[in-house]
Amino acid sequence: MPRMTLRNILLHPDPRLKKVCEPVADVDAKIRKLASDMLETMYDAPGVGLAGPQVGVMKRIFVIDCAEKDAAADPMVLINPQITWVSEGLNTYEEGCLSIPDMYEEVTRPEMVRMSYLDVDGKLHEDEFDELYATAVQHELDHLDGVLFIDHISKMKRAMITSKMKKLKKELARD
Ligand code: NI
Repeated sequence: MPRMTLRNILLHPDPRLKKVCEPVADVDAKIRKLASDMLETMYDAPGVGLAGPQVGVMKRIFVIDCAEKDAAADPMVLINPQITWVSEGLNTYEEGCLSIPDMYEEVTRPEMVRMSYLDVDGKLHEDEFDELYATAVQHELDHLDGVLFIDHISKMKRAMITSKMKKLKKELARD
């Protein structure tokens, strides 16, 4: 495993967080290094998911770890993920995002999804995700299409969060 490096997490609003990402053409050493860095950056933050565009890499890749607090780590890397099935049943979770720190809102999504993806060895998988995993993979897949969790809430709440984030970014830029 190559040495891992923390990557800088982009904060909303940023035009790169609103773009549709390109598929990964080759699962090569560069992608494996990116995946390691993204996991390290996610754990350091800390968070349960991180997508390529959040570290300024406009590629269809994300990482998650939805293991319970006391359970063993469960790092997953999903490359070129695609939804192949969604449940009719819905679930509502309070979501947050490393690009929108300290802001949480309830979002309703299908409670189960099936997703196909490549792993870091380029091997094709199709897995079913439920509970927190289902929310996480849908939230992260959204990032690859330039969609943030605040795009699923009311316009008024979104505007409020965006204005708070603009203020935060101004403060951070001054330091
Ligand atoms: Ni996010």
